[in-house]
Amino acid sequence: METKLIAANPAETETECLVVFALDHGSNKKPEPKLSPANATIEQAAADLISSGEVSGKAFETVLLHRPQGLKAKRLLVVGCGKKKDYSHTELRKAAGTALRALKPKLIQSCAFVVPELPTGAEDAVRSIVEGAYVADFDPDTYRTDRKDFSTKEITVIAPQNSEVAKLQRAAEQARIIGQSQNFTRELVNEPSNRLTPTMLADRARQMCESMGLKCEIMGPEKIKAMKMGAFWSVAQGSDEEPRLIVIRYEPGVTDGKPAPEKPVLGLVGKGITFDTGGISIKPADGMEKMKYDMAGGAAMIGTMRAIAQLKPRIKVIGIVCATENMPSGKAQKPGDVQIAMSGKAIEIINTDAEGRLVLADGLHYARTLGCTHLIDAATLTGACVVALGHANAGVFSNNEDAYQHFTRALERSGEKFWRMPLDQEYLDQIRSNIADIMNTGGRWGGASTAAVFLKEFVEDTPWIHLDIAGTAWIEDSKSWIAKGPSGIGVRSIIEWVRSYDGGV
Ligand code: BES
Ligand code: MN
Ligand code: ZN
Repeated sequence: METKLIAANPAETETECLVVFALDHGSNKKPEPKLSPANATIEQAAADLISSGEVSGKAFETVLLHRPQGLKAKRLLVVGCGKKKDYSHTELRKAAGTALRALKPKLIQSCAFVVPELPTGAEDAVRSIVEGAYVADFDPDTYRTDRKDFSTKEITVIAPQNSEVAKLQRAAEQARIIGQSQNFTRELVNEPSNRLTPTMLADRARQMCESMGLKCEIMGPEKIKAMKMGAFWSVAQGSDEEPRLIVIRYEPGVTDGKPAPEKPVLGLVGKGITFDTGGISIKPADGMEKMKYDMAGGAAMIGTMRAIAQLKPRIKVIGIVCATENMPSGKAQKPGDVQIAMSGKAIEIINTDAEGRLVLADGLHYARTLGCTHLIDAATLTGACVVALGHANAGVFSNNEDAYQHFTRALERSGEKFWRMPLDQEYLDQIRSNIADIMNTGGRWGGASTAAVFLKEFVEDTPWIHLDIAGTAWIEDSKSWIAKGPSGIGVRSIIEWVRSYDGGV
């Protein structure tokens, strides 16, 4: 998909379809739809749709009109953004996506969005439209033999004639990078485990790094054992597929401004379980096919690094993905086994299905040995997080208020939904072991937090954010703005978190 930004009169713009947004200014009883921005010619063309009540401004309603009078466009699509009082860039992002997904099956492969008013400004509006359009363009039907490529070929963003075009063009360009990177993550998450083994995931990461100019180092079983990553290896040992430790480095170039010495080094650590059977503590058959997406945290980090390479923040970023399968076999670890992590901590394995925290324990410790001053991890870590928050919010945990503030600012920009969860001492008491330092599970209650405090033992005092995306990495029911399947959750927020350490540019 190509993206163009122009400053023009939308009525005079030739396009397959002009997309214009409508807001409901009315009360609960009576809708009062108004187009945004106000434009006499477009209002005239849509007058009958509005007076008949077909256009109400209701969120994500779409009404298509052919040969709109007085416009150069072949069609006019009016998309509702909901009540004016609830309107923000989040609604606009979804409304833009809704427009694209309404046009896609009609084989309308190019359209032009009229940038609406937005309380946070035109740059934010352009960014939301472009991000929303890219996210909407993704469909997960990779292996359908009757797959039709309905992908949108081109979107044009029409800014007001008096706007600062260069600034808006930059916003559109950055939004394209972010949207494409989120989709890159979604492609990886969508792949089944026979088509994306740890080795293949590492190959995909390496290819991405080559095309984006990132340094990529990939390590196999011998190196993992030599580095004494006993927790990571304990999961990998049960599989016939070799594990991979993927390390991606981004360093700002001279032209991008030298990093000041006090600048942080950010470590992005992802859980890359390409299939989670549970191991010897095997999962039930029902729904096990879903466990191909247990590498969504790792894929989020690879997608984030892809965006970072192009957005070029003036800080160092290191992406680390611990990729392995979790399989039962004669070589697999067993409940009761004791494993020594890279940090030296002894872990008693109670349940081999609590494998994500094991691979992350070594990934996080390794990141610290590489000099990371701030850490963020993303993982489809616990079913307990899904029980607590459902599919609406992902969980966020942090041991540091400043890092967490950076993350909440990132959320304001990304529009993704995360809810903070606790990390108290009491949860740590739940995972004390009689034979070793800690156990890898902490009983029935508070499972998202016992998993998080387990990780905390390995980050120690390094400022750290932990994202549990088990309930949000896979969308069960399609929405008007996004397909069902892999969501790419985390990518946009982690990108913004990284940028927040560079003044949020
Ligand atoms: N990958 C799962 C968590 C998960 C559950 C992800 C549902 C996506 C959807 C993780 O490795 C796991 O199996 N966790 C166990 C931990 C338990 C054994 C302490 C769980 O949540 O049941
Ligand atoms: Mn598991
Ligand atoms: Zn898992």
